[in-house]
Amino acid sequence: MLVVVDFGSQYTHLITRRIRQLHVYSEIVPSGVDPASCEDAQAVILSGGPASVYDDGAPTNERLLDWLYEHDIPTLGICYGLQLLAHHFGGTVIRGEFKEYGISQAQTTQNALFKGLDSPQKVWMSHGDSVETLPPGFVPIASTPSCPYAAFQHKKMYAVQWHPEVHHTEHGMDMLLNFLDIARIERNWFMDDFLTQSVQTLTHRIPGRALIGLSGGVDSSVAAALVSKAIGQNLTAVFVDHGLLREGEIEHVKQYFEGKLNLKIIHAKERFFSKLKGITDPEQKRKVIGEEFIRIFEEQARILKADTLIQGTIYPDRIESGTTSHAEVIKSHHNVGALPDIMEFSQVIEPLQDLYKDEVREVGQALQVPSEILEKHPFPGPGLAVRVVGEVTEDNISICRRACAIVEEELQAADLYRDVWQGFAVVFEDRVVGVVGDERKLGRVVGIRIVQSMDAMTANFVKLDWDILEKMSTRITNEIEDVVSVAYFISHKPPQTIEPF
Ligand code: XMP
Repeated sequence: MLVVVDFGSQYTHLITRRIRQLHVYSEIVPSGVDPASCEDAQAVILSGGPASVYDDGAPTNERLLDWLYEHDIPTLGICYGLQLLAHHFGGTVIRGEFKEYGISQAQTTQNALFKGLDSPQKVWMSHGDSVETLPPGFVPIASTPSCPYAAFQHKKMYAVQWHPEVHHTEHGMDMLLNFLDIARIERNWFMDDFLTQSVQTLTHRIPGRALIGLSGGVDSSVAAALVSKAIGQNLTAVFVDHGLLREGEIEHVKQYFEGKLNLKIIHAKERFFSKLKGITDPEQKRKVIGEEFIRIFEEQARILKADTLIQGTIYPDRIESGTTSHAEVIKSHHNVGALPDIMEFSQVIEPLQDLYKDEVREVGQALQVPSEILEKHPFPGPGLAVRVVGEVTEDNISICRRACAIVEEELQAADLYRDVWQGFAVVFEDRVVGVVGDERKLGRVVGIRIVQSMDAMTANFVKLDWDILEKMSTRITNEIEDVVSVAYFISHKPPQTIEPF
């Protein structure tokens, strides 16, 4: 496997994805990682990052860099990673004289990293600082018109100032592939192997009965199908109707899973609504809902005599909930960050915890999970509770449910549903002045959010055709009583998150 050390670049996760696309398992580790925990790594990539090596508190890891050097571990520094290598091993980095943003032409030398590639070639740069002199023993292997040391090498230590992971770098994937060849890493990370291995491991790890919380979304459905392949009838899928679901969700779940899995539907709307009474803070709602979910699972586990809890957590959930140590807590996704401390299960297994969404869909396809489920837009575990501002009430939840359905229906009608990552509606608390049938009426505001994303870590709002937006807005104001205004979110992630609350 290959380890990507995260120095804070927004592209760190993309490096990991690219390496996996090249069939090598890779994982992100925080910048302060102990070298001892990298002993399994056959190669290491040092990510980019926003800092300058001269900043106070700039991330570095001298022990790791020395360890990589002393053990001749194949290493690739990218952008800040390059500057860090230069700075640490005795070269000089200068601040801000040769800023380069965007496409540049790199003149490359004959080098294993550029094997089979033309020179010059287009590379994508995004840096303020540059290397002025190389450390002793390091040799230049590429330059651009304004950056004489755009890439360098010392034994198995390589560094590039550009970003091979972004698709604007013409031969970025080839360079990464060449680096894997340099590191002599076997390319053996394939979904079929993942499936076979997972089924074997799960069979071994789950001696008795297990329970999975099925939401009907992609992740829990694929996790359920996977674990059911391993332990069959010993798995029970518990579907909790917390009264905060999308329209038709219960029917879909029944249609696809009844008869294929042990499916148990728990109607718990009153329970959730009463726990949520008076709570307005979205983080608090997430925690309360997460906790209640677990309590229900524990009750069911006692009834079913199951001591293993299966969760459909995927890799980006772990990053965003701060369960990988380098990340800030952005939101407590209820299936991870908000787990109560005391749990009665003897073990929790998250069979998809290392996968990205598109990898989960691949596994789902291999397991013949219906495409209607695999193509479904993601839906937060706390459901519509985090799509309404303020307290959860019958009223705002039913407005939100209908508005979400209208957004999805219109995306389907325009044949765009599968092209976007997520499309939904949220309900605000404030009232605005409307005019209905010549009369002044204070009404509700609904916000539409439609985004495109690769893996939910970053997202762009979709520049939807005005006519489609108009249709959505007209339907929402006509069909939902009380709504007089519709807004569209035109901000990307970052700075906004996908779910506004
Ligand atoms: P954000 O809003 O954090 O969303 O940009 C990223 C992705 O995660 C989903 N999401 C959640 N999923 N529990 C979940 O299981 C949550 O509390 C939660 N909040 C956001 C969101 O829909 C998007 O796909």
